[in-house]
Amino acid sequence: MRILVAGATGVVGHPLVGALRARGHQVSALVRPGSRARAPEADEVVVADALDREALLSAVAAARPEVVVHQMSALRLLRDDPPGAFALTARLRTEGTAHLVEAARAAGARRLVAQSIAFAAAPAGDPVLDEDAPLYVDAPDAGWSSTVRAVAELERQVTGSGLAGVVLRYGTLYGPGTAYARTGGGTAQSVLAGRLPLPGGGSGIMSFLHVEDAVGAAVTAVESEATGIFHVTDDDPAPAAQWLPHLARVLAAPSPRTIPAALAPRLLGWFMAHQLTAAHGAANDRARTALPWKPTRPSWRDGLGQE
Ligand SMILES: NC(=O)c1ccc[n+]([C@@H]2O[C@H](COP(=O)([O-])OP(=O)(O)OC[C@H]3O[C@@H](n4cnc5c(N)ncnc54)[C@H](OP(=O)(O)O)[C@@H]3O)[C@@H](O)[C@H]2O)c1
Repeated sequence: MRILVAGATGVVGHPLVGALRARGHQVSALVRPGSRARAPEADEVVVADALDREALLSAVAAARPEVVVHQMSALRLLRDDPPGAFALTARLRTEGTAHLVEAARAAGARRLVAQSIAFAAAPAGDPVLDEDAPLYVDAPDAGWSSTVRAVAELERQVTGSGLAGVVLRYGTLYGPGTAYARTGGGTAQSVLAGRLPLPGGGSGIMSFLHVEDAVGAAVTAVESEATGIFHVTDDDPAPAAQWLPHLARVLAAPSPRTIPAALAPRLLGWFMAHQLTAAHGAANDRARTALPWKPTRPSWRDGLGQE
């Protein structure tokens, strides 16, 4: 098949181009003008900024894809400029997605696969939630509620695009290039420096996903006929009280100190405090039965912090 990968220089997008080509597909890598040098080996490289509608329309038209994959975010900027990273990512999820849907339709594509997140649900109900759980669009933190509203808008556009739309809600990514990478990962660095304490009982639940499984799920979604929204997470949702001390041990970092939950938002920011104390996990049953896909790394316990 002819496939266009938007976000082809990214942590997921870059290896995805290679994985799709290894399956015999013809892959066009979409990269921004300034990022050409970091483009993966592809059958074709097309250049556009997704926020530039005209440029994106002509780049996608030139590629003539049957399937378009959206792996764009600006989360790489998180470490240096969190508000900027979230604001730009929100624009990519709303304006960027609108441009990509328009471009995909105009180019005659039939299928659209887009990255979303599995940790945007409101913290209510079961400790581990399915895809029907309401999103936290009214989170008390203005930054997170606008992030979640942008996620909801991306999902609305992809599933209502008129194309066969698939939303992959990735769990918290770990592995090379991610925030949890042993070398250079922002969260791993915080743990190593003893700057990520365990608030309250650490009862917030995280669903992790190895970056190789994020790539594998995208390959499956490209080749599948399934449509809809899927949690793409490992089989082992776990509270911070388990994964944070485990990560510290694997990294040979100091044991995380415990702090009162009430201090966490001020020390860690609202989002991290929420993740560690209140977030619910994401069940992958729908992806297993309907995509169908299952993780090759069923538990973060076997790999978190090791690479
Ligand atoms: N589930 C999760 O936990 C989750 C989800 C997403 C991201 N993350 C974190 O974010 C980091 C990166 O993950 P990722 O693969 O999503 O992001 P990434 O590696 O930053 O890749 C994002 C891609 O989007 C592209 N892009 C950004 N702005 C664009 C624009 N205006 N037009 C066209 N393309 C644009 C980037 O291109 P350039 O190279 O030109 O910037 C890059 O190819 C990791 O640290 C990961 O841990 C985590």
